[in-house]
Amino acid sequence: MTTPRKLFIKTYGCQMNVYDSERMAEALGASGYVTTDTPEAADMIVLNTCHIREKAAEKVYSELGRLKALKAANPDLKIGVAGCVAQAEGAEILRRQPLVDLVVGPQSYHRLPELEARARSGAKALDTDFPEEDKFDRLGGRPKAARGPTAFLTVQEGCDKFCAFCVVPYTRGAEASRPAARILDEARDLVDRGVLEITLLGQNVNAYHGEGPDGTWGLARLIRELARIKGLERLRYTTSHPNDMEDDLIAAHGDCPELMPYLHLPVQSGSDRILKAMNRKHTAEDYLALIGRIRAARPDILISGDFIVGFPGETDADFEATMALVREVRYGQCYSFKYSPRPGTPAAERDQLPEDVKSDRLARLQALLNAQQEEAQRAMVGRTVGVLFEKPGRMPGQIVGKSDHLQAVHVEAGADWLGRIARVEITATSPNSLAGRLAAG
Ligand code: 5AD
Ligand code: SF4
Repeated sequence: MTTPRKLFIKTYGCQMNVYDSERMAEALGASGYVTTDTPEAADMIVLNTCHIREKAAEKVYSELGRLKALKAANPDLKIGVAGCVAQAEGAEILRRQPLVDLVVGPQSYHRLPELEARARSGAKALDTDFPEEDKFDRLGGRPKAARGPTAFLTVQEGCDKFCAFCVVPYTRGAEASRPAARILDEARDLVDRGVLEITLLGQNVNAYHGEGPDGTWGLARLIRELARIKGLERLRYTTSHPNDMEDDLIAAHGDCPELMPYLHLPVQSGSDRILKAMNRKHTAEDYLALIGRIRAARPDILISGDFIVGFPGETDADFEATMALVREVRYGQCYSFKYSPRPGTPAAERDQLPEDVKSDRLARLQALLNAQQEEAQRAMVGRTVGVLFEKPGRMPGQIVGKSDHLQAVHVEAGADWLGRIARVEITATSPNSLAGRLAAG
């Protein structure tokens, strides 16, 4: 029997990359690879990269530089770059960093076994096509190993929105939805292996329009059918665009108990002028009205979002409009970024704001968002919520899980609770997590 080769995958960026890394490990499993947690032990290292902001892409090149020593120690080591930097830079990576053997874009993972064989034979392997076939179909079923209680499941990929700052439409291609039957099969399989919570993924997940047995299904229909799977207790989805938040999806937040009370709905800016320049195709007022309708359907829903500060042309007044919108929405959690010009996107060609202006605005916005997050956590104290326990805590005797509202919760309880959902009474809050005790009964 030959010893299996070892594969180390380092994942950057969004949850979709986490999902893709799992699927890449499965694809290379067919070529005789098993995964390892130590790069030093690996026969193949794959960096699954993110291109959304400049820093993310630069990190990849510095990480590749660090891998030089490993390659010197083990000349048989193969190094691959996958994900959105691979898609955007393609052959440029092979030129800039000769120690890379394989470059594969996110739509070509089903071709990994061939590419790996080519790299193993000493040639350079490159595939950044957007093939017609569905990469997930070709990746085949997941092997039946047991797994943790939560899982990601990609249902939609790509984006046709072309926000002026964003590389996703170029790196992930046009919107494409997987057929509903395949998603249902994959979800059933995950549940059979111990998964209780599934997060449906897509760059524009609420634009999902997949082929169903009786015509096209939207995301709400898909969620309602998934909710019928016995043993699937919790459903979430991310990331959504406000313009695709259709009535039946809003209604599902009110009447589908498996759909958790948390929604990531990025707005990016509170200024209509900037929203227009960003090509977001909605106003601040539209967004606020939408939040109102969602809260009417599910009053305790926790809203999260993404913001960009320092977009080209953003004035102090535009930034104040963002602060005003944040105060009105009262977010439970948020991600905020300085605008980072991405080559090939329209906004990168415009006049850029000075770095210190961006930094000041980001600091002010983050202070407000952090205060709101703490406020949302304080509001949980005294309430009893569902918690799905995922792992042991840092302190002995403690376990950690996520509440229905996706807040981290620490509880003193036995490890037999791991992988189960309990009712927990929240007793205290700290900046990034809650503490509680198992509720009686
Ligand atoms: N600069 C800064 N932030 C960006 N994002 C996307 N593109 C850029 C960019 N060029 C942010 C948006 C998006 C999130 C995933 O990343 O807020 O919602
Ligand atoms: Fe990028 Fe999202 Fe805009 Fe699509 S909708 S272009 S993924 S920010």
